Amino acid sequence: MLGNTFGRLFRVTACGESYGDALLVIVDGVPAGMSLCDADIQFDLDRRRPGQTPLDSPRMETDQVKVVSGLLEGVTTGAPVGMIIYNVDRHDIHVQQYRDVKDQIRPGHAEYTYMVKYGTHADWCGAGRASGRETCMRVAAGALAKKILATEGIKVIGYTKSCMGIEATNIPAFDLIETEARKNHIICPDQVAAKKMIDRVMEIKDEGETAGGTIELIARGVPAGLGEPVFDKLNACIAHALMSIGAIKGLEFGAGFGVANMKGSECNDFPYLDENGKVKFRTNNSGGFLGGISNGDDLVMRLAVKPTPTVSVAQPTIDMEKMQETTLGAITRRDPTLLSRIIPVAESMLAMTIVDHLMMWRGYDSLQKFENKWK
Ligand SMILES: Cc1cc2nc3c(=O)[nH]c(=O)nc-3n(C[C@H](O)[C@H](O)[C@H](O)COP(=O)(O)O)c2cc1C
Repeated sequence: MLGNTFGRLFRVTACGESYGDALLVIVDGVPAGMSLCDADIQFDLDRRRPGQTPLDSPRMETDQVKVVSGLLEGVTTGAPVGMIIYNVDRHDIHVQQYRDVKDQIRPGHAEYTYMVKYGTHADWCGAGRASGRETCMRVAAGALAKKILATEGIKVIGYTKSCMGIEATNIPAFDLIETEARKNHIICPDQVAAKKMIDRVMEIKDEGETAGGTIELIARGVPAGLGEPVFDKLNACIAHALMSIGAIKGLEFGAGFGVANMKGSECNDFPYLDENGKVKFRTNNSGGFLGGISNGDDLVMRLAVKPTPTVSVAQPTIDMEKMQETTLGAITRRDPTLLSRIIPVAESMLAMTIVDHLMMWRGYDSLQKFENKWK
């Protein structure tokens, strides 16, 4: 399997499967001199952890992280930071459930493509590396990235924007979004919409089904100038980061697909000079990117999250051992909707990408030998 490392300078390498012993991550590029303890990382892991609300999987993982390297007396040394989380809720009954249907491909899951790629060695237990469990280590590395961003005055937040067609429209000011969103299980800052969303997910859950939706992410405080103009555009790298999360099926920046129905002057964000003589934009249809480079405005994007593939209704499929069509019933635990659990994962991937680009830009810029009055 290739591609278990993400980033150029801030490099995150992760491993671990759904029913393996443990999940691990090594983060390269962490600056020396940062105070760091397990609790700094645990906070976001607890936001991703299953088994906490009726909207997520009953799998009871504690997701207790241990920082095992890169620290001396609670301060980073600049050495790679290694972290480990043990899988604790692994029981024979669940392994047997997976074993019983290991030859039947579960619709919407990655089994068919894993079988094509890895043959009989494909991990059939809990989806192996395709399981949402691997995202623990993204969140662990992301918590570190967020800590670095905080020292630069950059903050990344995510929340549920819509679920099954119910849209959050009453979005408070940026500083209040997190507090408001955490008042409900679906992590939506519009309380009226959140209630409707939760009621709808519970109805769908009772049908043995699952629900999709969208997540909005905002990064505030990102300086203008991040992103490389051609292949490594900031938005392109963010797309790589976010589209690497399981169950994400769409991504749009700023006005997104809405630009298709706009005239040029409606779409263009007009620049103006603020009271300090700094360049600002009146609107943010661009999502904070121009030519793949951050323009100093908020980075704004939305992700489409598909409904959880595991459902309790019978689904047509194929038995790959017998090469016969068959019907698959429900087999295991699942999240009725993935929305609230994916939010910390998406924030993490965005935070890591921004840190990586900050390091690249600062490194490159330090070699530029001219005065730039617009910086
Ligand atoms: C945090 C997280 C938790 C997930 N939990 C589940 C789950 O409980 N049940 C399930 O069927 N899929 C779950 N998924 C989705 C599957 O991992 C994903 O849909 C599957 O691997 C197929 O990949 P694709 O949807 O990107 O094509 C989860 C994904 C994430 C990111």
